[in-house]
Amino acid sequence: MTPSQKSDQTGKHPLLLANVGQLLTLQSAGIKPGPRRGPDLKQLGIIENAAVLCLGGKIVSVGTTKDALRDPWLKKNRKKVTEIDCAGKVALPGFVDSHTHPVFVGPRLLDFEKRIEGASYEEIAAAGGGIRSSLEGVRTAGKRVLADKVLAALGDMASHGTTTVEAKSGYGLTVESEMKSLEAIRDAAKQWPGTVISTLLGAHAVPKEFQGCSQKYVESVCKEMIPQAAKRKLAQFVDVFCDKGAFTAAETEQIFEAAKHYGLSVRAHMGQLTETRLEPFLRFDPASFDHMDHVSEDDIAHLAKHNTIATLVPGANYFLGLKEYPNARKLIAAGVPVALATDYNPGTSPTLSMPMAMSLACTHMKMSPAEAIVASTINGAWALRVADRKGSIEPGNDADLAVFAVDDYREIPYWFGANLCSMTVVSGTLAHPR
Ligand code: NIG
Ligand code: FE
Repeated sequence: MTPSQKSDQTGKHPLLLANVGQLLTLQSAGIKPGPRRGPDLKQLGIIENAAVLCLGGKIVSVGTTKDALRDPWLKKNRKKVTEIDCAGKVALPGFVDSHTHPVFVGPRLLDFEKRIEGASYEEIAAAGGGIRSSLEGVRTAGKRVLADKVLAALGDMASHGTTTVEAKSGYGLTVESEMKSLEAIRDAAKQWPGTVISTLLGAHAVPKEFQGCSQKYVESVCKEMIPQAAKRKLAQFVDVFCDKGAFTAAETEQIFEAAKHYGLSVRAHMGQLTETRLEPFLRFDPASFDHMDHVSEDDIAHLAKHNTIATLVPGANYFLGLKEYPNARKLIAAGVPVALATDYNPGTSPTLSMPMAMSLACTHMKMSPAEAIVASTINGAWALRVADRKGSIEPGNDADLAVFAVDDYREIPYWFGANLCSMTVVSGTLAHPR
């Protein structure tokens, strides 16, 4: 599909979703401005027997089906409108998956088996597995092959209700293969109806060639990758895996400085394996700190005063077979805005299902189903800085919605492992089923 064909399909025909049993609007009325925190994380803004009218890729009205059918414009234009009877099902904003690593070639099955036999994430990495074992595939693959992989993942995501995705590079770790990865994301995004936000994760691991001289590699990230990605508009964000065995706090700061210098926003993998002090990084106004398994009380208090989102990715804890999960209850009680994401990647979280991440958030992090939904929609949109148009069903927003074949929204995280998404609407057009 060419870009012009893509825009032709963007909600030209009015679309009415009617007879929605529960419409989770996540409307902002009555909610404190900014990302959702504390009790606001539970407010779904439910309308029963609802209807949503979409026009020109945007949501134009939201209310009860009864009111929608009385609307003079709709009465006059009914024949032009594509009407979908949702037959009492649940509809909500399309999920915003704000943390994924989709540019890789194959699964990591040896790591999977080793871990089952008892090896830890760090032990596997030290033995040449982990991130470094995905490099060869990406370095040798053509851009087209990578773009096809990304596009296949995006298609699967849409079929699970996701309409906005953050996609990172990070399995090439040379200037050339990181740019190729970002180009693959761009090329796939052009062929997918949803929205893709791209992130340069050149600082995912120190590649073998730079072992023992990580500073040289950091310089390549700062002086080659970041400037090229910025100049060619291939990334909106720069991410760093800041942890033991990856990049230090000082290196992360250096990379953040370079990102800011070239006009890119920042986010980071923080506290997955060990704790790093977060407060010194807040001056860079990071969009999110992700993982957050290890975080101090002091930093929690700082985060409660900022708009940086704590993005929790319980799929990684599940797949690594960990007993501990990030302490969502503590973060929420302190007023930290939290989001949920899949962390889709071949090493620690090979799932692209947001409902699965939500189910894990409920069962292992004791988030309520309502909190899991807010964290997967509007707060994900905050984490990507697109909350002005994504993550809630309100007039003026992009018409991105997911319909689930359930009677009650709590069933979405309840029926784990099943895909109950029956329809995904992107920019007012049916994206799944196609
Ligand atoms: O988010 N922690 C760093 N990055 C990924 C893992 C990447 C990998 O193992 O390939 C994560 O879990
Ligand atoms: Fe990650």
